[in-house]
Amino acid sequence: MGYQAHLRVWHGDAEGGELREHTVEAEEGEVVLDLVHRLQATECPDLAVRWNCKAGKCGSCSAEINGKPKLLCMTRLSTFARDEVITVTPMRTFPVIKDLVCDVSYNYVKAREVPAFEPPADLEPGEYRMQQVDVQRSQEFRKCIECFLCQDTCHVIRDHAENKEAFSGPRFLMRGAELEMHPLDSRERSGPNRASEARDEHGLGLCNITRCCTDVCPEHIQITDNALIPLKERAADRHYDPVLRFFRRKRD
Ligand code: SF4
Ligand code: F3S
Ligand code: FES
Repeated sequence: MGYQAHLRVWHGDAEGGELREHTVEAEEGEVVLDLVHRLQATECPDLAVRWNCKAGKCGSCSAEINGKPKLLCMTRLSTFARDEVITVTPMRTFPVIKDLVCDVSYNYVKAREVPAFEPPADLEPGEYRMQQVDVQRSQEFRKCIECFLCQDTCHVIRDHAENKEAFSGPRFLMRGAELEMHPLDSRERSGPNRASEARDEHGLGLCNITRCCTDVCPEHIQITDNALIPLKERAADRHYDPVLRFFRRKRD
């Protein structure tokens, strides 16, 4: 049965904005994105919101609901009391373009900074062979829908914009981890190893394992336990391992 939902939505742009209260028709089984769409169709035709699939797969509708980073299309109204005010604001870590739409280009810059997979020079495509266990390990990371909610929630940049230059964020450190764990990646032969690169160039040391990224990931990827902590361990091993240090010194 339909009811009146109470929505508080941020309206504004890069110059500033405000929260405005709205009462919107809601139906059983709907999600927050349905309310935002109904608001667009009625009172606020110019309300900006980014979305595509309405199925939790495109990663476009990221925002903050009652202060928590969430996908608008995957947040059911049934998780709120009917008289509760649902506050919808844009992601806090990225600059606002308009209303609920942010400029997420920081993430694309960071994505480009992670060197691509380097296949072994002596193998042709079609000759690559991997153990199933290695395939499974990276499959978890490849479930990422690039919603950037983990990037939004990580305090390293959420509370300190000055760290954006040095810190790639959990999503792209995870990409480094995926490649570091890839048995066929031959980056180490042509340059630094992925773990040291994450530490020296992508700010791995700024992550203090608060796990907030893992908590908000809509794909339930164990970002901290399966990517960031192993990457830190590998970076430390490479740096402090006495045998490797000996050979490094000899080489230098
Ligand atoms: Fe979104 Fe999870 Fe990918 Fe981060 S790791 S961008 S939270 S899907
Ligand atoms: Fe940030 Fe996740 Fe590390 S929230 S501090 S990247 S564990
Ligand atoms: Fe695609 Fe929400 S609209 S994830």
